Amino acid sequence: MAEKILWANNVSQHFGGLVAVDQVSMELNKGEIVGIIGPNGAGKTTFFNDITGMYDPTEGQVFYRGKDITGKKPYEVTELGITRTFQNIRLFDRMTVIENVMVGVHSRTKANIVDSLFRLKNHKETEKKAHEKALSVLELTGLADFRYNYATSLPYGSQRKLEIARALAAEPEILLLDEPGAGMNEMETSQLIAFIRELRDLGYTILIIEHDMRVIMNICDRIYVLDHGKLIAQGKPSEIQSNPDVIEAYLGKEH
Ligand SMILES: Nc1ncnc2c1ncn2[C@@H]1O[C@H](COP(=O)(O)OP(=O)(O)OP(=O)(O)O)[C@@H](O)[C@H]1O
Ligand SMILES: [Mg+2]
Repeated sequence: MAEKILWANNVSQHFGGLVAVDQVSMELNKGEIVGIIGPNGAGKTTFFNDITGMYDPTEGQVFYRGKDITGKKPYEVTELGITRTFQNIRLFDRMTVIENVMVGVHSRTKANIVDSLFRLKNHKETEKKAHEKALSVLELTGLADFRYNYATSLPYGSQRKLEIARALAAEPEILLLDEPGAGMNEMETSQLIAFIRELRDLGYTILIIEHDMRVIMNICDRIYVLDHGKLIAQGKPSEIQSNPDVIEAYLGKEH
């Protein structure tokens, strides 16, 4: 039976008079890859922000394994086991590839500020462990050979992968990917599809926002469709592809 691990209950996000997310409910079962699609401005990223504590929803609740996590701080959500990537790449350009991933490790390690500031004996040990963890994640993502290069010297597709690596370094149960395939060429997209499948096989549960239908239709078990903040459809890829409301949302009524 499906094990429900994350769910949103009538979540809304208002910005002044704008209703960016309008009473959206959805759920994620352990081991699933679930897609969120919808036209530009549909509220997809805002919904991610509501789940990950970047925003405090105007209405509704978010639950993770039965615990109400609505309005928790982003670092608290990360500590619980939910990490994300961003639509716009957010790498530290003056850091190497491995340093960027180590930032991800630290986002989960109970940061003992006194230790880090005064370099007490724990500090070296923590850094060593973070380095090892970062390296193992880089090996998984195929970026280990580039670990001492600057992050921004990597090809675009690899930078996107590095963002995922940094999220993985925090050892999440759930990974939220906001348009991981944006700007990728065909070969990079094919590699991304294979990589996300591999992550699922490793036990990660994945919620993915993506415009590239090849990615979405190939990897998702289920899909939710947002339009103007509202959930207008949900179902298997084959059901979504032929859903008239979805086609209308993308193409407009005249089609
Ligand atoms: N912080 C904010 N303040 C005000 N309005 C916002 C804010 N964030 C998002 N919006 C608005 O909310 C709506 C939903 O935006 P959102 O970025 O969630 O859409 P999206 O589905 O992710 O679109 P895209 O596919 O272009 O990334 C848009 O009208 C956007 O302008
Ligand atoms: Mg977005």
